[in-house]
Amino acid sequence: MTGKKKIVMSGIRPTGFLHLGNYFGAIQNYVKMQDEFECYFMVADLHSLTTHPDTSELKNNVYRVLAENIACGLDPEKVALYCQSHVYETAELYLYLNMLAYIGELEKTVTFKDKVRQHPENINAGLLTYPVLQTADIILHRASYVPVGKDQEQHLEMARNFAHRFNFRYGEIFPEPQAFNYNQVLVKVPSLDGTGKMSKSENQLATLFLADEDDLIRKKVMKAKTDSGPTENNSVKPDYIENIFGLMRLVSSEEVITKFEHDYNHCNIRYGDMKKQLAEDMVSFISPKRNKVNHILSDEAYLKEVMQKGAEKARKSAQATMQLVREAMGLNY
Ligand code: TRP
Repeated sequence: MTGKKKIVMSGIRPTGFLHLGNYFGAIQNYVKMQDEFECYFMVADLHSLTTHPDTSELKNNVYRVLAENIACGLDPEKVALYCQSHVYETAELYLYLNMLAYIGELEKTVTFKDKVRQHPENINAGLLTYPVLQTADIILHRASYVPVGKDQEQHLEMARNFAHRFNFRYGEIFPEPQAFNYNQVLVKVPSLDGTGKMSKSENQLATLFLADEDDLIRKKVMKAKTDSGPTENNSVKPDYIENIFGLMRLVSSEEVITKFEHDYNHCNIRYGDMKKQLAEDMVSFISPKRNKVNHILSDEAYLKEVMQKGAEKARKSAQATMQLVREAMGLNY
């Protein structure tokens, strides 16, 4: 090995349960990256305050995110797995970066405009500077890569702008962070109702969560839309049928997929059987993970220790950066 490992950072908002889309879209990326890079993965509890000022459920939600990520293969020994609010240096860097962020560009952010529309009664300044806080999270570790989905591309572009502006004004300290994904084409996890992809906010019955009980998984899969089947050999599949095949490709065996492809192409597919098979394969896929999450959640002492160790690692890296930042800004008197 020559040189140091590149640094990776990403954040997960503690709002809602992990679903299959998150699993195949984000977590699998994290798990792969943990061996190759120096990784910082964080629960973005401060960000959640911009939209969820009521903190009564926050602790449980933070624990759940940690447990779900660990159950899916993130190893707290390999990565720094921590909570945003435990790394106080974030707040300091956020403050400096706010002086480099222009109101005009913040007001143009798509996620800001969406939230203004959704919550006209709570357009707080934290919401406006959300991308600044996100930038602080990332560049605090001088990260080069940020595994995120498409919806975060604008935030990352802003992070590059803010990092660049800092470097230009005060000196080269920060790499300009890039979005990162192992898959050239983003893995798409279709929803069960044939419209779009799995999502935590839209139709909950069309989304499979890691926390779903076996019977609920079966019920959701059996409700997936089908029709009376193709009438011509080798015909093109309608979207909602392609989606069921897509889900099978994620969790079923090669033989099972080949069988149903064959049946489809020969017009003797029985969708009831296909969905039963998919339901059982989903149960086999999800239930061990759900049980693992519950097991981890039952051990609060362990979760506390994970957070504490994670915060220690993250603060070590953060403090080294902030030393450079204060020097560069001439604040080291
Ligand atoms: N804004 C991200 C989201 O909504 C969460 C997040 C916070 C994040 N800080 C980050 C993502 C830093 C990547 C890097 O999903």
